[in-house]
Amino acid sequence: METNTNNHKEQIAKAMQSVITEHEKVNQDPWRLNYHVATPAFWMNDPNGFIYYKGEYHLFYQHHPYSPEWGPMFWGHVKSTDLMQWTHLPIALAPSEDYDADGCFSGSAIEKDGNLYLMYTGNVWTGENRDTDLKQVQCLAVSEDAIHFDKLKENPVILEAPEGNIHPYHFRDPKVWKHNDYYYCVLGSKTNEETGQILLYRSRDLFSWKFMAVSAKGEGNFGYMWECPDIFTLEEQEVLVMSPQGLTPEGDKYHNLHQAGYVLGKLNYDTGVLQHGEFEMLDYGFDFYAPQTTIDDQGRRIMIAWMAMWESEMPEQNQNWAGAMTLPRQLILENGKIKSKPIPEIENIRGNQVIYENLIVEGEVAFKEVDGNSLELDVYINANEASQFGLKLRMNETGEQYTELKYDVNSGVMTFDRNQAGSGPGGVRKAPVQLINNTLHLRIFIDKSSVEVFINDGEKVMTGRIYPDENSTSIRFFSDGPCQLTHLKKWDLKHSITYMEKK
Ligand code: FRU
Repeated sequence: METNTNNHKEQIAKAMQSVITEHEKVNQDPWRLNYHVATPAFWMNDPNGFIYYKGEYHLFYQHHPYSPEWGPMFWGHVKSTDLMQWTHLPIALAPSEDYDADGCFSGSAIEKDGNLYLMYTGNVWTGENRDTDLKQVQCLAVSEDAIHFDKLKENPVILEAPEGNIHPYHFRDPKVWKHNDYYYCVLGSKTNEETGQILLYRSRDLFSWKFMAVSAKGEGNFGYMWECPDIFTLEEQEVLVMSPQGLTPEGDKYHNLHQAGYVLGKLNYDTGVLQHGEFEMLDYGFDFYAPQTTIDDQGRRIMIAWMAMWESEMPEQNQNWAGAMTLPRQLILENGKIKSKPIPEIENIRGNQVIYENLIVEGEVAFKEVDGNSLELDVYINANEASQFGLKLRMNETGEQYTELKYDVNSGVMTFDRNQAGSGPGGVRKAPVQLINNTLHLRIFIDKSSVEVFINDGEKVMTGRIYPDENSTSIRFFSDGPCQLTHLKKWDLKHSITYMEKK
């Protein structure tokens, strides 16, 4: 197998120089995250190439190493042994060849013969219009040390979109996996009439690919393009995770610019067709897109997503960085629905435990040592007679700045309100939630500029970036009638990201 190297190595060295030079300044920003993956400097979007490989988790990401805006895409790279403590590695891919000159777009990773392969989309602009003037092809890169990657001489390994009602240019984000004797790969696509769909390919050797079928296709309000597909098995059911662009809002659903969710079904490996059920959201907050999963040595299916949204206001851009990853979440199939749960390894970064039991809340109250800007809260709230209760997080001294999580018993709706949160885009998101034995269970993860709320053991999740003042660290519980915090636990969460040193 032959590879291309020279220009690629130079481009990576130059890009590394750019991010390393900027990193120290960027890291002074009080909104820099403590335990979420973000770039050393400049822009990131989708998680890519998420894989458990030779005892370590590797995660790559869409990266523009020259500005805090999206631009020609590189792949950044981090690794971890416990999914919580991450170390940055050198940039893995740069847009160095004719076929990927305007970007190494999203893709995935797989092990073959002990080597680590990345499969990604090469993007080239062919004119001014970013929607119509583009050429996308599928490519491979390989590494023996899981740090330095070389692109294959055979690239592109998929040269053009197949014939049929398949858009010839929007054709991207390969997710590859092995099943019995074949490698399979799904690609995001759309029809010529702007309906999202995914394409399934098959290969014996990973290098030569054959189109099998349009595996799934949208009907009704299901978006004009499906990005970042991912197919895997959970409890003997196939799951297709994807990011449909342009769903119109329905009630409390689909209020972000684009959505990310899943369908459950059965993939026929002979025909390539996936029979599937209804689309379900994976997160009910503001900032969750392009999720990707991997399976680890414990058989766990772990998902990470981009904790941002296209066209969202990102105040950290003024400090020369943009975007972050969500916490890793374990996916569990229960009663025909996927739950996203925090992983137990979170314990590895916990400190300063505070525990309370059986507290009564009425009006607005704070509890000693329950505050901060990098922490986890685990709380069970029995509604008792209350009809509305919740928490205000990241509150300032005057009580005017805060992020609110509120549960309404009568409507059964959980609200995440960031209109008073500080800088940034504001807005409200809602999720339908049933109390269990009249009790709401919340696990809340607060980082310097983010909040993730896991409701009733991951049945619903709400994720959002917030941009409060640095010293807005108070937490208050509120209720319109006496409710009971049967358990309240708080841990500070430690800084757990290691950046590359400036040489
Ligand atoms: C999803 C996406 C992908 C594409 C990448 C480009 O957020 O639009 O479809 O490969 O971002 O950065």
